[in-house]
Amino acid sequence: MEKVRVNLKENSYNILIGKGLLGDLENLAEHSPEQNFIITDKNINALYGNYLDALDSYERIVIEPGEQSKSIDVTANILKQMLEKGASRRSKVIAFGGGVVGDLAGFCSAIYMRGIPFVQIPTTLLAQVDSSVGGKTGINLLHYKNSIGAFHQPVKVIIDTGLLHTLPYKELLSGIGEIIKYGIIYDYEFFKYVARNIEKIKKCDEDIMPYVVKRCCEIKAEIVSRDEKEEGLRKILNFGHTIGHALEGITDFSKYAHGEAVIIGMYYETIMAKKMGIVDEEYAAEILNFLDGLGIDLNIDDYPVLELADWMLKDKKNVGGKISFILPVKEGMVKEQMLEKSGVLYYISSL
Ligand code: GLY
Repeated sequence: MEKVRVNLKENSYNILIGKGLLGDLENLAEHSPEQNFIITDKNINALYGNYLDALDSYERIVIEPGEQSKSIDVTANILKQMLEKGASRRSKVIAFGGGVVGDLAGFCSAIYMRGIPFVQIPTTLLAQVDSSVGGKTGINLLHYKNSIGAFHQPVKVIIDTGLLHTLPYKELLSGIGEIIKYGIIYDYEFFKYVARNIEKIKKCDEDIMPYVVKRCCEIKAEIVSRDEKEEGLRKILNFGHTIGHALEGITDFSKYAHGEAVIIGMYYETIMAKKMGIVDEEYAAEILNFLDGLGIDLNIDDYPVLELADWMLKDKKNVGGKISFILPVKEGMVKEQMLEKSGVLYYISSL
């Protein structure tokens, strides 16, 4: 088992990574003597619910899969169930699933009786390499993604890389989008490693997946340790997300998996950096070739530019009406560029 430490001023925690860790869930989960809860979704419960049987004293709350569950109604429903079933301030919540379950269960833990402990057990590649680490929790309101939320760090993250074999290809690609992002924003050697090994990663080769997941968690832990509340450095994790979130929004969260939208976002944001002349042409071509080679439909011509820009204006990272973009500048390095709506329209319509 590999261990990555997320060092914070308060509430530091470990990420445990290994194949087959769920077989030891009873020990790893560390029960509290109070009534504890597992929050999961119907698909994950059908696939892996048997692992949870070891935690028979936990109340299981099973939600509908999909982004629509990140709502006020579902949140209220979970909190009511927790109250009715006697959750106290010392109860523990396990978030068992992908990004939606992690964000929602984390948010319920953040606000229940002003905050109770929760454990992340991410079951998708995207959740294992990104959303389960770093304490961002939240739900959507009026189509504004993650507009209601809280920073609430888990007490532990348990990652079983053995689960990845059952992931649908779309979900796998979604995770690969976040994996390559770490290489571009922080570690060029890792970018080259991922590019060299992409066929093995697409097959979830068990010889390399624990390393790939661990390296992503190390990078994320380093960034979050230095800037837990996204006051500066942590913004680099948003590369690809300004256009990516707009694509998710404009398609009503139904066409793209999150990481797919981020792949398309990174592609066009790299082209924007090229047009601005802030990135070396050869390096930009290396990024673009890699993203193009993933086999995702990169065409965004069908979406009206004005509508895309309006979606970008809803992003909570914007300041004073300016839209925040994270753009590549050189190997392993990105920078923030703020643009007025008119600037966005200029760049997006010329992509
Ligand atoms: N997923 C971006 C972050 O955690 O900051």
